[in-house]
Formats: sequence, C-alpha cells, structure tokens
Amino acid sequence: MNTRDTLKINEEGHLEIGGADCVQLAAQFGTPLYVYDEAYVRRMMRVYKKAIDELYDGNGQVLYASKAFSCKAIYRIADEENIGIDVVSGGELYTALQAGFPPEKIYMHGNNKLDYEIGEALDCGIGCIVADAYSEIDKIDAEAKKRNIRQTILLRINPGVEAHTHAFVQTATTDSKFGFSITNGTAEAATAYALSKSNVLLKGYHCHIGSQIFEKESFALAVEKCMCFVAEMRERLGFVSTTLNLGGGYGVWYTEDDRKLPAEGYAEYLETTISTLKAKASEYRLPLPYLLVEPGRSIVGEAGITLYTVGAIKEIPGVKKYVAVDGGMFDNPRYALYEAKYTPILANRALESATELLTIAGKCCESGDIIAVDVNLPTVKEGDLLAILSTGAYNYSMAMNYNRNKIPPCVLVKDGVAEYIVKPQTYQDLVRNDVIPERLIKKG
Ligand code: LLP
Repeated sequence: MNTRDTLKINEEGHLEIGGADCVQLAAQFGTPLYVYDEAYVRRMMRVYKKAIDELYDGNGQVLYASKAFSCKAIYRIADEENIGIDVVSGGELYTALQAGFPPEKIYMHGNNKLDYEIGEALDCGIGCIVADAYSEIDKIDAEAKKRNIRQTILLRINPGVEAHTHAFVQTATTDSKFGFSITNGTAEAATAYALSKSNVLLKGYHCHIGSQIFEKESFALAVEKCMCFVAEMRERLGFVSTTLNLGGGYGVWYTEDDRKLPAEGYAEYLETTISTLKAKASEYRLPLPYLLVEPGRSIVGEAGITLYTVGAIKEIPGVKKYVAVDGGMFDNPRYALYEAKYTPILANRALESATELLTIAGKCCESGDIIAVDVNLPTVKEGDLLAILSTGAYNYSMAMNYNRNKIPPCVLVKDGVAEYIVKPQTYQDLVRNDVIPERLIKKG
C-alpha cells in the first residue's frame, strides 16, 4: 500500500479511500468506478503553491496540467486553491470555462493548435498561449491583430534533456515533435521571429522534459539549460525574458518499484528547481523570472483508484491465471500503451495475504487489454471487488469507448461521502451522434 493517508483498511477488511468504504462505494455507484479523494488533490495543490510562496516569495504560479484529469469539478478545486491551469485543447479550455475558471489564469499548450482553438483562446481572454511552431506565432499574431490586442505568449523550447522515463512520454530530447530546439538554433530563430510580431507579447519560455520522472537532477539540468539560453538571448537579441515555465513531470507511486514520497515531499522538486534557478540567475546576472510549474500526474495520480468487479477467471495450467474485470483498456489504456504497472488490492478482503500470482485482464476483444500482469493477490473469486491504485491521472482522461463500452463515472470523496463529478455514460450516449442515412433506414 502507498504511504498516503488517502487509503486505509478498515476493521471489516475493506479498503477505504478518503474515509469511504470501497465496498459501499461499489454498492452505491456500481463498477467500474473511478474514485477520487478530494483532500489529497487539494493537499498536493497546496504543497506546490506553498513551495512557490515560501521559497520564491510567491513570484510564480502553479498550473495544474489538466490533461491528467479534466472535468468541471477539478477546475473548481484548482480555482478554489488559487492555482492556475494548463489546457491543451479547445475541449479542455471549454470545460474549464464552463466551470467558471478565470481565463487569465489559463495557459494553452499543444504542438498543433487549431485555428479555431486559437480563436477561442483569444476570445475568452486567455492568460497565455505557449507557441510551439512558426505558423502558430503567425496565427496568434493575426488573430490578436483582428481583435486589436497584444496576446501574451511563451515559446516552447526544447533543452535536450534526457529524463529517465518511458520513451513515449519523453518530450525534450532532440528528436521530439515538441518545442523549438536550443541546440540546433531554432529556439533563437523563433525568439527573433516572435519579437518581430507586433500583436504578440513574448514574455519568455516554456519547457517540459517528460513525465513520471523521479530524478530531481533532470529538472535542475533543464533549468540550467534554459537559463543559459535566456542569457544568450539577452546577449544576442537584447531580449530579456521574464517568465520561465518548467512544465510538470514529477513521478508518482504506482508499484513497489517506484519511489514513495509523502505529499509534502514533492516540495523537494521545487526546492531543487528554485535553488538552481537562483544560482543561475545570479551567475548570469539575470532577473529572477516569474516561475511556473505544471504538475498534473502528481496532483491527481495517487488521489484516485479504480474499482472493478471480478468476472470470469481462467487458469491456463503451467502458464497463467487470468482474472477478468468489468473494465479494461477502455478505462485504463496505460498497459496497452506503455506496459504501465499497477498495484491491485482485493478491496473487499484487503487483510488477506497474497497466495496467487494473477494477471488482471479487461473485457475488450484485444489480447493486450491488460490492467496488471503477474500480481500477487489472495485467492480471488467471481464477484470480488478489486481496487487498482494510483489511477487518478491519465486514466479517465485517456478513456475511450472501444467495443462500445461505457466510460465509467467518476466520484469525488470528501469526508467519507462520495458524489458524482462525472456521471455514468449510458447506451443512449453511445449512439447520440450516430446517424443512419436515409437510404439505410430499415423499411417497413
Ligand atoms: N506540461 C506539459 C506541457 C505537458 O506536456 C505535460 C504532460 C504536463 C505539463 C504534465 O506532466 P505530469 O506532471 O502529469 O507528468 N499519457 C501519459 C502522460 C503524458 C504526459 C504528457 N504531458 C501517461 O499516461 O503516462
């Protein structure tokens, strides 16, 4: 079990999250079910905010990277906690605005923002757009001109830092679809280009070196490279950058192979970042930039679990025992995408010791539809309740309707009481956008 106060096992041997008994949650809301502990989400947001307030005199802002988990309620929580957000699509922006999130605290990302997304961002008065291509600089400038405004932007730069994480979630090595590379000169050229535009206001730079990274040194190295580049730009172009957005990426606990950090321990990442930033600013005699960080996974990842009911059990003698659940890759595609590892708990008999090596499979017509391979569990029976831990990030947000399975609902637990924040999909939802052309309509 992880170190967080979020989860505990009660006297009945049931897993609890945020004080709510998982067996009761399953009875009340059904399975599969995503469950989030509100207290944990808020605590993580506060850890980062406090670090910037106390270690950096509040000269910055925490932006929740909402791609990790986007829905109206999470934006309300971020707003109440006085942090900003980042969005990467018109859909995330729309959701945030629908939740009443203040547009000036929204940063927009994406490596190919569509024309209408840029238009929507400008129309709502978005705080900042992080440009990631020449064509985007052009479009932002043109759209801003039409509206007679000057849009604040940052440039996404690629510092070329190799962070230890899965190749698919590495984003700042030289071969990346993200960012203007510092090393091959495009970051400098893009800076000059943005400065030549009259309706964009270039404030500085953004970089994001990847996700699920534990090494603090990787973040420190990114700061060093960015600050060196900032100094070069002052020297070569006379441009003094005043904002530095360092993205997110702090790793979370999924299994015993991962580092366990108490919530407050995440301040360490900002301590390292801020001390490196101060050292570099003084070395290059640069003003301390307004600092932004964009944690996503570490805010919601360990705050969430998924509950499943065990269905068919299949033992292949000498090979494996498969336990199928009522969810699968349609609610958690991370094994299929990254061979991600998870920790399961038998939520209705959580005190029993492990006796078997099992593979938890989903219900999709796809061999790679796996939730966890070779995990130790007590003997599991049909009807048992399985909890998969640390599913709060990039599960619901990457869920899909493959095989026309319904995306599970999300509930938020506060003081032991759960409420829907995303309602269950229905079969009607699945066919809502289907159209039968006239010529195919069944006659008679
Ligand atoms: N900022 C930017 C610009 C990003 O691209 C990301 C994540 C973040 C912040 C937040 O990073 P975090 O703190 O969550 O690590 N689907 C993958 C993760 C993709 C992350 C993409 N960018 C997964 O399931 O592991």
